[in-house]
Amino acid sequence: MNKKYHIHTFGCQMNVHDSEKIAGVFSETGYQEASGFNEADVIVLNTCSIREKAEQKFYSELGRLKKIKKNNPNLKIAVAGCIAQQKGGKLFERFPYIDFIFGPNNIDKLQIWVTGNTVNSALEDNPDYSIKLIPAKREGRIRAWVSIIYGCNNFCAYCVVPFTRGREMSRRVSDIYNEIQSLAEQGFKEITLLGQNVNSYGKNLKITVDFPDLLKEIHKIEGIERIRFVTSHPRDLSDKLIEAMRDLPKVCEHIHLPIQSGSDMILNLMNRGYTYKEYRIKINNLRNAVHDIAITTDIITGFPGETEEDFQHTVAALSEIEYDGIFAFKYSKRPDTKALDLPNHVEDKVKSERLKKILDLQETITYKKNIRLKSELVEILVEGYSETDANKLTGRTRTNKIVNLYGEKEDIGKLIKIKILEAKLHSLFGEKVLT
Ligand code: 5AD
Ligand code: SF4
Repeated sequence: MNKKYHIHTFGCQMNVHDSEKIAGVFSETGYQEASGFNEADVIVLNTCSIREKAEQKFYSELGRLKKIKKNNPNLKIAVAGCIAQQKGGKLFERFPYIDFIFGPNNIDKLQIWVTGNTVNSALEDNPDYSIKLIPAKREGRIRAWVSIIYGCNNFCAYCVVPFTRGREMSRRVSDIYNEIQSLAEQGFKEITLLGQNVNSYGKNLKITVDFPDLLKEIHKIEGIERIRFVTSHPRDLSDKLIEAMRDLPKVCEHIHLPIQSGSDMILNLMNRGYTYKEYRIKINNLRNAVHDIAITTDIITGFPGETEEDFQHTVAALSEIEYDGIFAFKYSKRPDTKALDLPNHVEDKVKSERLKKILDLQETITYKKNIRLKSELVEILVEGYSETDANKLTGRTRTNKIVNLYGEKEDIGKLIKIKILEAKLHSLFGEKVLT
C-alpha cells in the first residue's frame, strides 16, 4: 500500500511554496497526500521563526504530534523551515520523537531520508541549491508561485531570515523561464515571482542580468497573463524596475514595499539603508509611472529605541502615503539579530497600543480607498468559489484586491470584466459586465 504524507505549513508565502516543493518530493517518491494528521505515515511541520508567536505555534503543534505518535509509533515526524535551520540538532535533544530535520535550502535532501537512508538531518550549506530543479506539487491550477532568489544579504537588525535562509542565491534565467513556460502549458494564468528581496536578483549569476531584465524575459511567455512579485526592498528598487512596471502590460499594478518605520532614526537603527524622504521619492516615481498602482507595506511597532515621536512619524507616513493595505507587527526579539543588543527596548503594552493605533488608522484609509472603486470597471482573474460564501466566485483585481461576484463555474480561471458595486474593508463585490 502507498505511504501517505501530511504537511502543516506555518508562515509566509515562501514557506507555502516550499511546502509545495516538499509535496513534490514526496510525490516523486511514490507517496500520496493524506487527508489529515491521522492518516499520515509521515508528517512534516514546515516552520516559521519570523516572530516569537510563529515559533510558539510550532511548539504547541509539536506537543500535539507527540500524543499522536504515542498511539502510532510508526509515524515519522520531520521538521522543515526556518526553526529547523536555526535550532538544528538541538531540537532532537528537546523533542527526541522528531525523526528528520531539514532546512529551507535542503529540500532536495528530503528524498534521501524518505527513501530509507539513515540520515537524520540536512542543515548544511547547499551551494548548488539554486540550480536544483525541485518539482512543486502546486495547490491550485490558476496562480503559481515561482522562486527566483533564495536567502537574504540585508541583515535588517530585527530579522532572523538571513540566519535561517542564508545568503542570496539567484536561480538561472533559463531554469525560471522553463518552469514558467511549463506552467503556462498547464494552463496557469498568473505567476508570482518569489524572493526575500527580488530586486537583488542576478547579482551572483555568471551572466549580467537584473530583475527588470528577468521580467522582460518572462513577459514573452504566452499564456501567462499576469506577473506579480514579492518582496521588494525600497533601497534596491531601481528606476529601471519602475520603467519595466510601466512598460510591461502583464506586470500587475501592485507593489509590496515594506517601509517598517517612518522615522529616520529608527530606519537607521534597523539598518534599512534609506530615509523616509528617499522612500517617499520612490513612491512618487511609482505613482507617476504606473497609473493607479496599489502599494502595500509592512510596519513594525515598538522597535528598540522607538519614542512616541518616532512612532508619530510612522503615523504621519501612513496618512501621507495612503497605502492600499498594510501588515503591521509588534517588534519581536529574535535570536542572533543585532536589535537584541540595542538599548531602550519598548514595553509590550506600548508596542500593542501603537500597533492598534496603526491598524485602526489603516482601516479607515483602506475603506476610503475601496469606496472610491465603486462603479469602476476592473479586470479580475477568477480563482474559484469564495471561502466565506460558496454561492459566490472570488477573484482578484490586477491591484490585488479581492472581489466576490455571482457567476458560473466556467468563469473559474478566466479574466473577466467586473463592475464594482459594493466596497467593504477586506473585499469588494461586483458584477460581470458583458463585453
Ligand atoms: N519582529 C516583528 N516583525 C518582524 N518582521 C520581521 N522580523 C520581525 C521581528 N523580529 C516583519 C517585517 C517584515 C515582515 C515579513 O515581518 O515587517 O517585512
Ligand atoms: Fe529580513 Fe530585511 Fe532580508 Fe527582509 S530584507 S528578509 S526584513 S533581513
